[in-house]
Amino acid sequence: MAKETPIAELTEAAAAQELAALADALKRANRAYHTEDAPEISDAEYDALKRRNAEIEAAFPHLKREDSPTEQVGAPVSETFAKVTHAVRMMSLANAFEAGDIADFNETVRRYLGLRDSDGPIAYTAEPKIDGLSLSLRYEGGRLVQAATRGDGETGENVTANARTIGDIPDRLDGAPDVLEVRGEVYMSHADFAALNKRQEEAGGKTFANPRNAAAGSLRQLDAKITAARPLKFFAYAWGDLSEPLAETQLGAIERLRSLEFQTNPLTQLCNGMDEMLEHYSEIEAQRATLGYDIDGVVYKVNDLDLQRRLGFRSTTPRWAIAHKFPAELAWTRLEKIEIQVGRTGALSPVARLTPVTVGGVVVSNATLHNEDYIAGRDAKGEPIREGKDIREGDWVQVYRAGDVIPKVADVDLSQRPDDAVPYEFPTVCPECGSEAVREEGDAVRRCTGGLICPAQAVEKLKHFVSRAAFDIEGLGARQIEMFYRDGTLPIREPADIFTLEKRDADTVSKLKNRDGYGEKSARNLFQAIDEKRKIELNRVIFALGIRHVGEVAAADLARHFGSWAAFTSAVDAAVPAAQRFLKAEEAVTKERQTAAEQGRRAEITATRNAVWADNPAVPAEAKAAWDDLVGIDGIGATVAVSLVTTFHQEAERASIDRLAAELDIQDVAAPTASDSPVAGKTVVFTGTLEKMTRAEAKARAEALGAKVSGSVSAKTDLVVAGPGAGSKAKKAAELGVETIDEDSWLSLIGGS
Ligand code: IVH
Repeated sequence: MAKETPIAELTEAAAAQELAALADALKRANRAYHTEDAPEISDAEYDALKRRNAEIEAAFPHLKREDSPTEQVGAPVSETFAKVTHAVRMMSLANAFEAGDIADFNETVRRYLGLRDSDGPIAYTAEPKIDGLSLSLRYEGGRLVQAATRGDGETGENVTANARTIGDIPDRLDGAPDVLEVRGEVYMSHADFAALNKRQEEAGGKTFANPRNAAAGSLRQLDAKITAARPLKFFAYAWGDLSEPLAETQLGAIERLRSLEFQTNPLTQLCNGMDEMLEHYSEIEAQRATLGYDIDGVVYKVNDLDLQRRLGFRSTTPRWAIAHKFPAELAWTRLEKIEIQVGRTGALSPVARLTPVTVGGVVVSNATLHNEDYIAGRDAKGEPIREGKDIREGDWVQVYRAGDVIPKVADVDLSQRPDDAVPYEFPTVCPECGSEAVREEGDAVRRCTGGLICPAQAVEKLKHFVSRAAFDIEGLGARQIEMFYRDGTLPIREPADIFTLEKRDADTVSKLKNRDGYGEKSARNLFQAIDEKRKIELNRVIFALGIRHVGEVAAADLARHFGSWAAFTSAVDAAVPAAQRFLKAEEAVTKERQTAAEQGRRAEITATRNAVWADNPAVPAEAKAAWDDLVGIDGIGATVAVSLVTTFHQEAERASIDRLAAELDIQDVAAPTASDSPVAGKTVVFTGTLEKMTRAEAKARAEALGAKVSGSVSAKTDLVVAGPGAGSKAKKAAELGVETIDEDSWLSLIGGS
């Protein structure tokens, strides 16, 4: 971006000209973001444009344009498609970048299934990963009844009329299951992309940065006639809802889809084990440049559909598939400036502002620099990276993109370093609030200690709070949060403020209307959207709080375990004295650990830890029990537990959480409805060696049947499943009189084999 003229130096003519350019740029960014599914600039860049616009308007109020972007804030996007809830969630894929990652994937699959070397290699399909956008096509009675984009995986957009215009998508199927959801990728070939851009240019229309953006922009047209005029193609590679199985194997299913006249990728091949997978990867990579369409890797899928079923899914990705991405694309450019962003948990993240450069078809102007060690040229262990070369403002740097991840700086060309470049000094105070920024032992990241007083942390926390997996309030996204946070009359400074917005002031609507470009209707819509989220699931609330280490999965584990907000908060409160003692013991242990480990004195570490736990005054028994219960939840370790307890114990944080809870109607976690399951609602502990299935599989199946799986035995345990070699847990179960059964009895109990 060109250097900004300081506001005080702007002439009236220059200001008017810049306002016009900003209005244009923001309109374009809005359209790219909301209607074309192809954001052209980052949120930070968008915010910077908005800020600049507001500053100029404040200095030259009479120049404010009729179509001023400040008037557009909060305006609902009218150009939308109807929403579609997917009958079967649309998943994404875990990524791998190296052969070692594929070996790990294969190992994890084998371990999960409990396979031994003597069982031989697993068969996988390997096929190109198409760089387009995924689409789900629903056929009923052989007729296409609905086409939906992926959206967030649960809910997508209804683009049926547009999908019908795509030649590769049949309208009718002969001999298909009664219900069949075919999933695949919509894409545009290189030749069609070039021709489309040429036509667009000649007609003075918008041109697209790459074929994927062109495909997305073309599919998401409100007028299907426009889609019809765009040369889109479709490869089928997966399925969703089905009234009967397609085949017994992945390859069989793909062949069946082909026989139903879908296009399937001709490079799909069966591979027996690792070596063949990597060989096929190289073959596909060698053909990449001549395929005529963009691919960005190879997808491997376990071929046997019965094994796929056993492996199942993590929260958003299948355990039975992985995307092996091609190496990142690279480019050299100038690093103009290093800036520090402060995140939700106070982390100071350095960002490189770059002279814009095209990397693999996308213009990049920012890259992450990770942390201060990375800038200084060393890794977390103090070992040199980039041969120890540090990164300075003014440096000539190599930037790379791998998939959709944020661009990174890989290398520095020292021969191009300006003479006056100086080593970068990482700030030790927060640039946003001036609080001290500290780096704890073992943490690569320096963090602002300002907590709630730090505006950057507060804003990021609020953005997280309204994000999709948290409160997901329609019309209240990151941009609106920025605006409300800075608003003098109707500020939102903490989550509870969202829910008091309407009632805070008798005149809220007109205030909103006057100040922020809301109309009567859009203001009412916002309040309604907020009200709709007062009744909310427990796991969403826990996740929304934005507590460090408590992600979506941990929040769901906690919600399932405690069942209600009251039970959750009182358990966390009860654990406080034990958590404090835990921290004290770990501190003592850290001091001793290094030398002790070197000398093999593990026993002394345990003794030190035990001694601190035994200190007077004793940790009350209820606190110890609450702590043991918390860290015993499968998936919740001491790190999560400490972070939770510490947050809830901080007075200001706690008051803010309580203010929020008072505004909400937090739903108890419904007792599992799998009422025909004999283990629904029971707390189960697996211990010892399981022989018919692995621990992970046992856990996933138990949870699917509504059981809670815990890592430790307590009075709350209903059932212990003990395999050979079960030790202290089985003993404890016997002491507590908890029912204990073996693996076979477990399998017959849950009706599996
Ligand atoms: S399988 C449950 N196969 O990649 C697994 N996905 O990064 C569903 N994609 O959302 C996906 N080519 O849009 C699969 N041959 C292929 C693919 C493919 C492209 C896309 C798909 C998915 C994304 C995940």
